[in-house]
Amino acid sequence: MAQDHPGTAAVATGNKYEIIGLDVPEETLFNGDLLVASLSESPRRVNSIYYYDDTGSLLFERLCTEKTYYLFRTERDILAEYAKDIAETTGSVFLVELGSGNAEKTTLLIDAYARSHGLTSYAAVDINRSILERAAENILSVSPDLNFLGVVGTYQAGLAEVKNLAAPKLLICLGSTIGNMHNDELDNLLLSARSSLTHGDYFLVGIDLDKETTMLEAAYNNQTAILANLCVLQHLNWRFGANFQIFQFRHLSVHNKDLHRMESYLESTQNQLITIDKLQFSFDLSKGELILTEIMNKVKVCDFSNMLSQFGFRRVQHWTDLQERYALVLCRLVDS
Ligand SMILES: C[S@@+](CC[C@H](N)C(=O)[O-])C[C@H]1O[C@@H](n2cnc3c(N)ncnc32)[C@H](O)[C@@H]1O
Repeated sequence: MAQDHPGTAAVATGNKYEIIGLDVPEETLFNGDLLVASLSESPRRVNSIYYYDDTGSLLFERLCTEKTYYLFRTERDILAEYAKDIAETTGSVFLVELGSGNAEKTTLLIDAYARSHGLTSYAAVDINRSILERAAENILSVSPDLNFLGVVGTYQAGLAEVKNLAAPKLLICLGSTIGNMHNDELDNLLLSARSSLTHGDYFLVGIDLDKETTMLEAAYNNQTAILANLCVLQHLNWRFGANFQIFQFRHLSVHNKDLHRMESYLESTQNQLITIDKLQFSFDLSKGELILTEIMNKVKVCDFSNMLSQFGFRRVQHWTDLQERYALVLCRLVDS
């Protein structure tokens, strides 16, 4: 297991779990300079990391229970059916999850690995500490003897932290989380993943497949999705002393067919001056102006696999649901 860092808080309980905060200043995780830069772009943009404070993490859990949010249920069903196959394909590995959230679906994998290979340890990386505590509870409720290590930090910081854990490894990224990344963010993640893994290690990724507009727009326009988007502004208010009034914004989530992605925006419903005190930054928003808060890329398995191959990962196998809405792609690092 990784060492705790000096100056960081570890949460210990009666259970066998440990959550470490990386010794990285908060502003590196939620970087004010980057926020100012993205809010100055055209269109204005906020990184989707701002969805995930404590409130946002709770809202994401609630989103997963919304009828129209097929992603969670579909991925869970694929895991329920194929977790054993996945465990048999990789053999015994150390499990490391990026952006674990509450790890509810991961319990299916943990269970399969425990049965097939006597899994003893699991590490989860997430930007939000409170969701890692729920992940620990979920995981330990099905596998009370497992060693759970939670790492509070960005994907990159977490990957550097778990680099020296036992090999071989299976890196996991579920929930179509990879689909939220812009190209430069995805490239950075895959480069970090490659350098933290060794030849022969595995990478299991959940991806949402391209599909018709109606189903996509229903998934991202339900009540919880609307609330979660507006709460990004609340996050900016408490963290940076911004003056966003959520009632002066309207949620919008649309299918951009040309770019094969959903895009969520907040539209200003009036002319207004936004000030962000702690960043000493202000800007005028016009009525009707949009702020891009999240992208959700929708892909094809072959395109995704080709992209991964440019980073040294070769597809081993993939599993989908009957309607081919969603896929879990297992690949292996062949070229480090
Ligand atoms: C779309 S949710 C998926 C959660 C979970 N894997 C699932 O499938 O239900 C993305 C998760 O990644 C975390 N996250 C987002 N950006 C992150 C970053 N840059 N570094 C680390 N974690 C991040 C969020 O806190 C959230 O728990």
